[in-house]
Amino acid sequence: MLIVERIEKSYSKAGRFSAERHLVLKDISFQCKPGECLGIIGESGSGKSTLGRLLLGIEKPDQGTIRLKGEPIGKRTTRQGNISAVFQDYTSSLHPFYTVEQTMIEPLKLVAKSRKDMHTKIDVLLHQVGLDPSYRSKYPHELSGGEAQRVCIARAVSIEPKFVLMDEAVSSLDGSVQLQVLELLKNLKAIYGMGYIFITHDIQAAAYICDRIMIIRNGRIEEIVPIEQLKDVKSPYARKLLDQVIT
Ligand SMILES: Nc1ncnc2c1ncn2[C@@H]1O[C@H](COP(=O)(O)OP(=O)(O)O)[C@@H](O)[C@H]1O
Ligand SMILES: [Mg+2]
Repeated sequence: MLIVERIEKSYSKAGRFSAERHLVLKDISFQCKPGECLGIIGESGSGKSTLGRLLLGIEKPDQGTIRLKGEPIGKRTTRQGNISAVFQDYTSSLHPFYTVEQTMIEPLKLVAKSRKDMHTKIDVLLHQVGLDPSYRSKYPHELSGGEAQRVCIARAVSIEPKFVLMDEAVSSLDGSVQLQVLELLKNLKAIYGMGYIFITHDIQAAAYICDRIMIIRNGRIEEIVPIEQLKDVKSPYARKLLDQVIT
């Protein structure tokens, strides 16, 4: 279980030495059960990526706590092997001089029992994300956007984490590829049973894979709704998004 309690985060308004602070996240509390897919929705600048970085332990909150299985997320041992991430910008997420295989070996080194085990695992993972074994030797510039994102997803699930955090992970893929990747995420969830934190501004994509949706606005949680009740959502922002999708 991921438990977030009363977190707050601010940044300096004008550079590092300015005393003026911009409060980006306020009083954020929520929980995410093992195997759950929680969508985090909000317009640009609402604080979604900041919240994502706090959940990954990349940055620390000014106040409040984030715990995974009772342990603070700030501790390396809490994160290691338990949480991984997929970001929007798949091209910069992959090292340009690493082949797909080299990219995938890195996190596997931490969990695989042997070299042979590692190589078998890579074949299985590539197959699971719909790429044939010939992709092992390809470099990022030889991949399409959809293929590169599949490699990032394969790498994120390879350690069989408790949670995968995705920040706009499908947002820059075009329509049909986006749907294929969402379908792939659903399948991987069925295989590995991990939870997803799915950050997006796209309510339709979130509705497709999430169990619950949290709407964040100006750094505050406006509402959390189970997906079955999305049509009754009260948040004016979510209503506006839904109306755009329907019409
Ligand atoms: N490292 C940072 N330093 C200063 N301000 C930041 C930093 N990261 C984000 N912000 C500010 O925090 C707000 C929320 O940003 P962000 O979390 O990226 O929102 P979203 O992902 O929802 O678009 C924005 O006003 C942004 O300018
Ligand atoms: Mg963002």
